[in-house]
Amino acid sequence: MKNIAVLGSTGSIGKNTLEVVRNLNRNGYPVSVKYISANSNVELLAAQIEEFKPKAAVIFNEASFNDLKSRSLDHKCEILCGQAGINEIASRDDFELVVNALVGFSGLIPTTEAIKHGKDIALANKESLVVAGELIYSMLRGSEAHLLPVDSEHSAILQCLQGEPMKQVTKLILTASGGPFRKFTKEEMPNVTVEQALKHPNWVMGSKITIDSATLMNKGFEIIEAKWLFNIEAENIEVLIHPQSIIHSMVEFSDGSVKAQLGVPDMKVPIQYAFTYPERVRSDFPRMDFKQLKNLTFEEPDLEKFECLKLAYDVIKAGGSYPIVLNGANEAAVELFLKGKIRFIDIPALIKSALDKHENHVSPSLESIVGIDSWSRKFVYEAALELA
Ligand SMILES: NC(=O)c1ccc[n+]([C@@H]2O[C@H](COP(=O)([O-])OP(=O)(O)OC[C@H]3O[C@@H](n4cnc5c(N)ncnc54)[C@H](OP(=O)(O)O)[C@@H]3O)[C@@H](O)[C@H]2O)c1
Repeated sequence: MKNIAVLGSTGSIGKNTLEVVRNLNRNGYPVSVKYISANSNVELLAAQIEEFKPKAAVIFNEASFNDLKSRSLDHKCEILCGQAGINEIASRDDFELVVNALVGFSGLIPTTEAIKHGKDIALANKESLVVAGELIYSMLRGSEAHLLPVDSEHSAILQCLQGEPMKQVTKLILTASGGPFRKFTKEEMPNVTVEQALKHPNWVMGSKITIDSATLMNKGFEIIEAKWLFNIEAENIEVLIHPQSIIHSMVEFSDGSVKAQLGVPDMKVPIQYAFTYPERVRSDFPRMDFKQLKNLTFEEPDLEKFECLKLAYDVIKAGGSYPIVLNGANEAAVELFLKGKIRFIDIPALIKSALDKHENHVSPSLESIVGIDSWSRKFVYEAALELA
């Protein structure tokens, strides 16, 4: 029996994770959900409590906490609130694996808490590695915890690397769909709407990562994520636009051979692999039908049109605390864009201003990471007022 906690169980990855749990239980691989968490979606969290019968549920928003507590559910479990609730469950010894499906910076402290308590982490929350890769890997060295990627690209790379020593790897190739604006001209970009940006061609995801995919910032984050997960220099990680999202990523080896992992775009596959790694378990998920495939195409990303990816490359070169600013400024700018307060093209402009103002810190502590994140958001909120 695998005992797990699902943080962010009401989100896109969280719901897919619970679908994986149903699949594994149907296919002879028992999984018990001991803990779940949400920010404010009381309705769905209550339904998940009834179905999965966890020991405790954590809800971040205080009003939602009171709402959930006031409900008379058939399954009685502890209802905890906020970061204190996450810290409390992380310290319990009745589960082995945490699925971190929280969005943005909110996922960082849960990642560090899980490592402190020696829990394995199926990590969807790539932002944890973007802002604190160095710190997380130094914590992992003194812990029994392991990180397992959930991102489809990183899961693809992990699958391609099975049986292959890292010293034979010459290049990781991260594929990207190119998002909804792949075919737009640079001149069309100032007028794109929130509705257009939220229409991802191949994946259904939470709104923040959908906008990150439209700006290609998501791919920049994934380079940083891959650098830490696979201990490889960023200059050996290439980004390739592959609009069909069938090849989830590739690895090139010293003899010139390339391995790719393919499949229908469905997050349940990488989530399940993180659960069962290095084994595989049967699934009832949709299968590839190669006869239906018309073509697989590849192109280089346009860094002039997708300035966020260019900024990510610059930040990777600069290192230190710049990735924290990249992430914090991006989160604030995406939030403002989703609220209709700034234009799509203001997102990279605001992030660039924050990066230009920042003074680098080498090997920041958790406390300074939190401080730099707050500074970056505040900077963007203030700078955005001047745009209005
Ligand atoms: N979606 C995908 O297909 C996909 C693919 C690869 C990687 N990822 C990564 O997976 C992570 C989750 O993405 P997602 O698309 O699943 O996001 P999402 O749909 O927005 O879900 C986020 C989850 O976190 C909770 N949450 C939001 N803000 C919170 C806060 N401040 N404190 C505590 N909990 C909070 C939400 O609760 P409520 O429901 O109550 O708001 C929800 O359960 C991201 O890091 C993303 O980059 C996602």
